[in-house]
Amino acid sequence: MLPSALLLLLLPLSSLCSTLSPSISPPSPCTSLLTQSRLVYICQAQGLRSVPSLIPPHTQVLLLAFNGISSVSQFSFPDLPLLRSLSLGAQHLAGSLSVGQSAFLHSPNLTSLDLGGNLNLRLHPEAFGGLAQLEVLLLDSNGLDETVLESGLFRDLTNLRKLDLSFNRIRRLRPDPSFFPLTSLSYLILKLNKIDSVCGEDLRSLRNRKLELLDLSSNPLHFTDSPSCSNPFRDIALGTLDVSSMDWNAEKVETFFRTISGTKVERLKMNHAAALGSGFGFHNLRDPDEDTFSGLNSSEVWALDLSHGFISQLAPRVFSAFSRLISLDLSSNKINRIRPGAFSGLGELVSLNLSGNLLGELLSPSFQVLCPTSLQALDLSSNHIGAIQYGALDGLVALETLSLRDNALTRIPSVRLPGLTLVLLSQNRISDVYGLSSFSPRTTFLDLSGNRLTDLGSLWEILELRSLRYLLLGRNRLSRCSPSYASRQVPGKGLLYLDLSDNALGGVWKSGQCKDIFQGLGQLESLNLSRNHLSSLPEDLFQGLTGLQALDLSWNDLRGLRSGAFLGLSYLRSLNLQGNSLVTLSLSFLVPLTSLESIDLSEVTFVCDCGLRELWDWMGATNVTVQLGGRTASCMLPSPTLPEPLLVTYLQENC
Ligand SMILES: *[C@@H]1O[C@H](CO)[C@@H](O)[C@H](O)[C@H]1NC(C)=O
Ligand SMILES: *[C@@H]1O[C@H](CO)[C@@H](O)[C@H](O)[C@H]1NC(C)=O
Ligand SMILES: *[C@@H]1O[C@H](CO)[C@@H](O)[C@H](O)[C@H]1NC(C)=O
Ligand SMILES: *[C@@H]1O[C@H](CO)[C@@H](O)[C@H](O)[C@H]1NC(C)=O
Ligand SMILES: *[C@@H]1O[C@H](CO)[C@@H](O)[C@H](O)[C@H]1NC(C)=O
Repeated sequence: MLPSALLLLLLPLSSLCSTLSPSISPPSPCTSLLTQSRLVYICQAQGLRSVPSLIPPHTQVLLLAFNGISSVSQFSFPDLPLLRSLSLGAQHLAGSLSVGQSAFLHSPNLTSLDLGGNLNLRLHPEAFGGLAQLEVLLLDSNGLDETVLESGLFRDLTNLRKLDLSFNRIRRLRPDPSFFPLTSLSYLILKLNKIDSVCGEDLRSLRNRKLELLDLSSNPLHFTDSPSCSNPFRDIALGTLDVSSMDWNAEKVETFFRTISGTKVERLKMNHAAALGSGFGFHNLRDPDEDTFSGLNSSEVWALDLSHGFISQLAPRVFSAFSRLISLDLSSNKINRIRPGAFSGLGELVSLNLSGNLLGELLSPSFQVLCPTSLQALDLSSNHIGAIQYGALDGLVALETLSLRDNALTRIPSVRLPGLTLVLLSQNRISDVYGLSSFSPRTTFLDLSGNRLTDLGSLWEILELRSLRYLLLGRNRLSRCSPSYASRQVPGKGLLYLDLSDNALGGVWKSGQCKDIFQGLGQLESLNLSRNHLSSLPEDLFQGLTGLQALDLSWNDLRGLRSGAFLGLSYLRSLNLQGNSLVTLSLSFLVPLTSLESIDLSEVTFVCDCGLRELWDWMGATNVTVQLGGRTASCMLPSPTLPEPLLVTYLQENC
């Protein structure tokens, strides 16, 4: 079936056009559209009971979904030699759709056919006759049973690549010998059926090929440890094997993988495994252990997705069958304990995702077995990690990306990660940056937003990271600046992006502290000071920022801007003053801003005195883009608020 978003996109078009051409006879409910040099004929959701007779002969894409067509035969369609894609999905108004013998004979170039969503589809045994070019066939949600695979239906489809049979009533997976010649078939989607076993010779007709995707998810598949069920995937290589959403417990998982032992599987998806793992507080189910996946030890799996399950402990050597694994996704389980040696054998792992688990602490032995490996990305976000043992992650010399976002850390971890460049520590409870430069000396991107930092002087300490380019310190509690740092030489010359939004810097500068905080940041291109309770800007605050291009001062309490406020910002292109209360605004503040391209003055409150006349005149003449927000700058007059046209008149008459 077409994604419904596309339908939404197309619907207004067709309804629009049908009302635009009311007098043509017979009135066509359909619309032609030329997109990417393809002629698309759109007749979706028009209440049609049959295929329209006047389809343009050069049509390449024909969309007939969501109508009430109850049957199609080779007499239903005119000659459409160029037709590549036909959608006949969801003829709900008809109740059922029947497809006659060689129904698509007049469109021999068809490569994609969508019949999905016709709940009681009836197919003539030779319905697909003549479609030698067909590559994609969608038969999802069609109420089909296993005979669809066992009656030579797809015989003529010698170019078929993808067959989607999801959401049907197939109980047996035993494709008949007519599948032998379909050597291009490599995407077979069977999710949400009723297949309860696949054994031995069942897939004989698919042998000697690689299936890029075999999706068996959400089937009641059962494997018992018996010699009568031998490996059904013999002589079949698998790209992705999807066995997600099964109710297999650890024993059944083990039996399944022993049964298919020896089969090459590149990517294994076993997410939403509802019975694998003891969960949190349950004791009747077992966590996977060293034996669970052992049948896969020669499968050479490189991507394993075990996300969204109930694994609570990672047992020693649980992944030892996966010596070629590159990517391991364990996110959204209930993992609260990583036993020593859990990751042993993962000699080539590059990416490990433990996000969304119940880890409270990280201990040294957990990750030590990964040490000499190539691990580059570790996601530990959204756990409850409050403690990281000294040196717990040391040795992960290749690690480049580490996310500890959304945990309970109160300090920078006491670990040394010399290769780290991307560090995500946002949404913790970190109150100082002590130890940062030994933790991740080569960081280029550091997110510390949403923590409990109070000292603006920390900025100088952070800037000792000489590689740092992007620094996010928003949503902290920066409200003081300790003078001991203030005397330091600023080394952070390479910083490009600094977010200090949502702090309390107004108070810091009001009390006269750290007005030279930005000195030396000559490369900085973007500075965010939004939501900082700034009521004025210290003279020379921005003086050192000679490379600055974007300055966000929105949602502060600025009441005026002195003429020298932006001195030195000759490269500034965008200035955001949204949501301030600029009681007076003399245009002299704009003088140094010789590169200004846009200024945001939306939701700014002005007083309508004659100073404003100057601004209004300037806005009329300048090619700087001025944003005034939905309702334009409201105006606190001594007299009542005036809407813009009246305001302009007022200014013209009185100034
Ligand atoms: C298929 O399309 C090509 C152009 O893409 C056209 O030349 C050819 O005639 C079509 N085939 C048939 C059998 O109509
Ligand atoms: C896989 O495990 C079996 C025993 O379970 C063992 O005999 C075999 O040598 C192992 N294969 C590899 C490639 O490690
Ligand atoms: C880890 O998994 C979570 C949840 O499934 C996902 O949002 C996140 O992007 C993943 N992290 C990485 C580094 O892929
Ligand atoms: C500045 O930070 C605020 C959050 O307080 C955000 O909404 C805004 O988009 C940021 N500005 C820029 C230019 O990124
Ligand atoms: C504004 O327009 C003038 C001439 O129309 C041009 O010389 C000047 O460079 C433009 N300024 C900007 C910032 O684009």
